[in-house]
Amino acid sequence: MFTKDIYINRRNQLRSDLKTERKDFKSGLILLPGNQDVSYNYQKNTYRFRQDSNFLYFFGLNKPNFMGVLDLDSGEDWLFADDFDMDDIIWMGDMPKVSELGASVGVIHTAPMSELQNMIAKAVDEGRRVHFCDPYRGKTRHQISQLIGFRYSSLKNFASKKLIAAIVKQREIKADYEIAEIEKACDIAYEMHTTAMKMAKHVGTYEYQIAGRVEGIAMEHGGTVSFPVICSVNGQTLHNHYHGNKITEGRMLVLDAGAELDNCYSSDITRTVPVGGKFNDRQKAIYEIVLAANMKAIEMCKPGIKYRDVHLIACLTIAEGLKKLGLMKGDMLKAVEHGAHALFFPHGLGHVMGLDVHDMENLGEDFVGYDDETKRAKEFGTAYLRFGKKLKEGFVLTVEPGCYFIPQLIKQWHNEHKFSEYINYEEVLKYLDFGGVRIEDDILITKDGCRVLGKPVPKTVADVEALMAS
Ligand code: GLY
Ligand code: MN
Repeated sequence: MFTKDIYINRRNQLRSDLKTERKDFKSGLILLPGNQDVSYNYQKNTYRFRQDSNFLYFFGLNKPNFMGVLDLDSGEDWLFADDFDMDDIIWMGDMPKVSELGASVGVIHTAPMSELQNMIAKAVDEGRRVHFCDPYRGKTRHQISQLIGFRYSSLKNFASKKLIAAIVKQREIKADYEIAEIEKACDIAYEMHTTAMKMAKHVGTYEYQIAGRVEGIAMEHGGTVSFPVICSVNGQTLHNHYHGNKITEGRMLVLDAGAELDNCYSSDITRTVPVGGKFNDRQKAIYEIVLAANMKAIEMCKPGIKYRDVHLIACLTIAEGLKKLGLMKGDMLKAVEHGAHALFFPHGLGHVMGLDVHDMENLGEDFVGYDDETKRAKEFGTAYLRFGKKLKEGFVLTVEPGCYFIPQLIKQWHNEHKFSEYINYEEVLKYLDFGGVRIEDDILITKDGCRVLGKPVPKTVADVEALMAS
């Protein structure tokens, strides 16, 4: 938790962004629900608790069953929650009083959860707007629909775009004290990745042994992983959560894994290494192409440049590399314009990162990654780019180009003769057993460029081989 002034200032900023100028018109309330526990396989057996990131950002409390309200007209901040009773204390230990927790984050007004209904009902009766974001959890959706009286299924239509825009405006610019936390998460990811690299030297290891160790490292630091670990010799499946394969010579192991601290700031790093510790010629050739795209993109990132333009240069770098290898042909600028490169790179270059590993995506990807000036592309591949708008100082984002050989996709395009003016299918078909390569770093946009966050995880061929040999 940061000092209480930080939370007070964040809430005041949010209030001033939403308050209407009109004196004859009430501005209403902002409802910021905290998360509740979620059952895993029976009621009392719950998943690890994860607080809602907006609640955490504005109220700082990392505990279940809280609701926050900002009154735009009175200027009051409210926290609704129930003090622990003896049963709670017996099973879960003591918890400070809600009033004490409120005071620790600068909230004077606290009340039992049952009183929230009265406050919301009164506001609704008076015709005041209750601003809320479209919830991503069923329990929260149910809570809000009960409180305001909207139908569960139509709640999305009433979410406040003004609130979403104001939250994005604040959260997308990371303060120094947040960057320090993100960097801690990156340093943990360094340990996760370098440990995995050393394990991948041992042919015959199972993916789950590596994935388990990696997850354990995140937990050893008091947090957990920032998303389910992707650890696979079948890296052509972008989000491969199956960890049952034995790693064998000739395969490459993709590890896409990051840490989430106990305060929820995260990291997200990917490395791809040759099982056994030495790249063969074919692996090296594809790896160098992805590495060039990763480094070119990082070199380009600075305030004022659209991330979609960086993405397109990364696509071009990959396409040109593949052309040199004989897998693509023709004019690579046109190939990228038409989307032919997406056979090999069918996802976006990256996303913003912070309290969520895909920061604020629950508010709606387009509200975070696009704006009036930059609209999402419609072409296969570039349409998956989660974040395309102009970069600003203080943004934290991932740079994660990849090159994949997805047999089913290759066969489908080949049968359709799709982009056959740009793709040399005869050569590509020789790579059906290759897998995939992705290289991902986390960067901070600075005043005139960017910097990679955290201790550098080896990524050149020489550095990866040296680390694996160590
Ligand atoms: N690291 C997983 C993802 O960004 O989707
Ligand atoms: Mn990522």
